[in-house]
Amino acid sequence: MASSDDFKQAMRHLAGGVAIIATEHEGRRVGLAATAVCSVSADPPTLLVCINSGASAHEPIRASGRFSVNLLASGQDSIARCFSGETGLKGEERFTVGEWSPLLTGAPVLAGALVSFDCRLTEVVKMATHSVFFGTVADITLRSTTRPLIYAHGTYGTFLPEGAGLWW
Ligand SMILES: Cc1cc2nc3c(=O)[nH]c(=O)nc-3n(C[C@H](O)[C@H](O)[C@H](O)COP(=O)(O)O)c2cc1C
Repeated sequence: MASSDDFKQAMRHLAGGVAIIATEHEGRRVGLAATAVCSVSADPPTLLVCINSGASAHEPIRASGRFSVNLLASGQDSIARCFSGETGLKGEERFTVGEWSPLLTGAPVLAGALVSFDCRLTEVVKMATHSVFFGTVADITLRSTTRPLIYAHGTYGTFLPEGAGLWW
């Protein structure tokens, strides 16, 4: 079997859009920055997120049965840094960064995100250190066509189409 260090080194090459996954349970909001977000099915609209079972949002997502997935735009790396624990803020304190309000399920949604998916939890699959949470998408807010925030090689950046100076 490959070593986990080799695996981590290799995965640094997989560029990913950065999302903030958030929920509210018993009056308390929690969230984390995540790149492990994937589309599963369009009918019904379903996505999955992979969350470490030690993350503070893990149990609240399972217990509340709802979560939002907020795709960040270029320039929002300070929000990503906050929700990945880099700034030392925890729990509710993280929600002082950006504007948050509930949409349909009651999970907090980030007003300035590129796109927000408001999801109802449908299934949880435990896999090693992580859980895969499947959510059906109850509502979507699509705000703009600005560039996405991308994470690769341990660094935040953005996406540019190959050979083109123009954005779509
Ligand atoms: C760019 C980036 C992507 C991340 N992606 C994930 C992810 O997909 N799943 C996960 O469980 N943690 C991921 N993390 C780590 C969590 O954001 C971090 O452990 C966070 O602090 C967990 O929340 P807690 O401090 O509230 O426990 C990522 C961190 C960064 C910086």
